[in-house]
Amino acid sequence: MNNELLILHGPNLNLLGKREPEIYGSLTLDNINELIQEHAIRRDIEVRIQQSNHEGVLIDALHIARNWAAGVVFNPGAYTHTSIALRDAIASIDLPVVEVHLSNIHARESFRQQSLLAPVCVGQISGFGWRSYLLGLDALLGHLGWLHE
Ligand code: DQA
Repeated sequence: MNNELLILHGPNLNLLGKREPEIYGSLTLDNINELIQEHAIRRDIEVRIQQSNHEGVLIDALHIARNWAAGVVFNPGAYTHTSIALRDAIASIDLPVVEVHLSNIHARESFRQQSLLAPVCVGQISGFGWRSYLLGLDALLGHLGWLHE
């Protein structure tokens, strides 16, 4: 069984910190990735972190994760609301995927309130800023039975 997890960030998340900080917070993606790595150490697990602005690269990352990961925490950015191709990728890989969002997509514009991906994910965490990633990681660990409590 694979014993690492993939943290996948989608489009425009490379601009975190500068991008609409009133919505997404003031931490940069590097800051958030550090907090994720610290949390992984606390939980005694290994994570690999990747970001891409490109739908096909995200699809490839999900396909490749089949070979090495036990699950995925995924912030698909705006592709959440548009990408049937990413939905098909998630449905195809037989890995648990937890969808996360910094903002509460259900409290925003109507076009953001639908996720095409959530139905093929284990679940969704939305609205807790950078902590959504840590909550998503714990949700995935619980799902995998890796949380030692
Ligand atoms: C987001 C929400 C999306 O609607 C938006 O397009 C993003 C970020 C979030 O983390 O809140 O890029 O996924």
